[in-house]
Amino acid sequence: MKYLNLLLLALVILFSGGCKEEKKPHLLMVTNATFPPYEYVEKQEIVGIDPEIVRIVAERLGYVLEIKDMNFDSVIAAVQTGKAHIAASGITVTEERKKQVNFTVPYVIAEQLVIVRKDSKIQNCSELKNVSIGVQHGTTGDTYVTRNIREPERFSNAPLAVAALNAGKIDAVVIDAEPAKVFVKQRPQLRLLPEALTYEEYAFAISKNNKVLLKKFNAELLKMKKSGELERIIRHFKDATSAGADANAAYVSDTFWGQVKSSFTLNFIKDRRYIYLVDGLLNTLLITFFSLLIGIGIGFTVAIIRSTADQTGKLQFLNLLCKVYLTIIRGTPVVVQLLIIYFVVFGAVDIDKVLVAIIAFGINSGAYVAEIIRGGIMSIDKGQMEAGRSLGLSYIQSMRLIIVPQAFKNVLPALGNEFIVLLKETSVAGYIALHDLTKGGDIIRSQTYDAFFPLIAVAVIYLALVMMLSSLLGMLEKRLKRNE
Ligand code: ARG
Repeated sequence: MKYLNLLLLALVILFSGGCKEEKKPHLLMVTNATFPPYEYVEKQEIVGIDPEIVRIVAERLGYVLEIKDMNFDSVIAAVQTGKAHIAASGITVTEERKKQVNFTVPYVIAEQLVIVRKDSKIQNCSELKNVSIGVQHGTTGDTYVTRNIREPERFSNAPLAVAALNAGKIDAVVIDAEPAKVFVKQRPQLRLLPEALTYEEYAFAISKNNKVLLKKFNAELLKMKKSGELERIIRHFKDATSAGADANAAYVSDTFWGQVKSSFTLNFIKDRRYIYLVDGLLNTLLITFFSLLIGIGIGFTVAIIRSTADQTGKLQFLNLLCKVYLTIIRGTPVVVQLLIIYFVVFGAVDIDKVLVAIIAFGINSGAYVAEIIRGGIMSIDKGQMEAGRSLGLSYIQSMRLIIVPQAFKNVLPALGNEFIVLLKETSVAGYIALHDLTKGGDIIRSQTYDAFFPLIAVAVIYLALVMMLSSLLGMLEKRLKRNE
């Protein structure tokens, strides 16, 4: 138990990044970097018009800028709840949003456009009533389609909607004009409808409680507008993404093997995209390993309390607590638990997501491990305990030396099963925008609009991990048998 505490302490220090001292105040910007040319990821870095503007303003105001990527439907909430200072994400100013946050002066005029496939029969916006339309969840495109056309299909980001359109899963995508142009340029099989659906203005969102920042930011932004600097930044990223789109569009081939080869290159080699998988894999391993340890710790403790209470009638209160824990954890989905721990339990504190995931999956796994081990303890013949006691061992000693080791051996296959489930279950970590293995594949997918290679690669890596884990468990089982 002591070691477990030390381990946890070490983890907390590790993930809180020690106690770095910094003089300059931090400015935390949140965004959803799937929206070229406003914000996108290039060589593992978030770049684009928005980060560039905020970077320059932050520098002039004497802040150290930190950028956090998250789902678009959370960026405004992040500012509103004080988790971030500023949201810069191609955000359209709307009346609803004005109730939640303050907006800076607008910096861009925008509109919503419709993307369809080249071979589609749809020629203008009036023909959208009876076709399936994809949007990015929580955007003004989403609101517009929902209110004026029909219930849309909501994707977590625009590139995934475009990929679905490309694959023939939906018939149209409604999205802001500039990203739409980039997407269409990258995919020669897509085209834009001529008219726009809306007229919009983008601005940066700042908390209602932070009037000082709003004022300072506006002053800098107006200066940038006047001097023509703003215009230059916008031009620069429009040109850069347009050139990048042409480069991606070049990865199309006529022959089957030619296509396989260029898809492979585009998805993994170009811009060193394989790094997304490597980084994700590391997080998946980290989360699995530590939550497994926590799960075993909790599992053993709960199992021993429960079976002691059953057999001796003692520890009734602890037993009750354990029962409540088991009921709640086994009665609710792990994703929901993860979301609750992230947004509710640690809602107000800035805590590393990997640590959140370790805690959530550890607590979850503990419940299953507990019942597996309890089953093991129950399966040991009562005579074993009696023999231990009559040899003069205490109850705890008999548990520790006689019952638990035998129980452990019996439940090893079931435990192995639980560990395999745990490893694969961590794939829902993407719900809190954590970059695990599955999310790594998603990031690639959102950059290349290809589903095949990123998904297959992720599946193959999980399979390899599970096979390794199974063979390790097999070896352990054999060792234990030999020791008998
Ligand atoms: N302008 C739209 C809105 O405010 C879409 C913004 C999406 N931004 C993004 N970075 N994905 O709702």
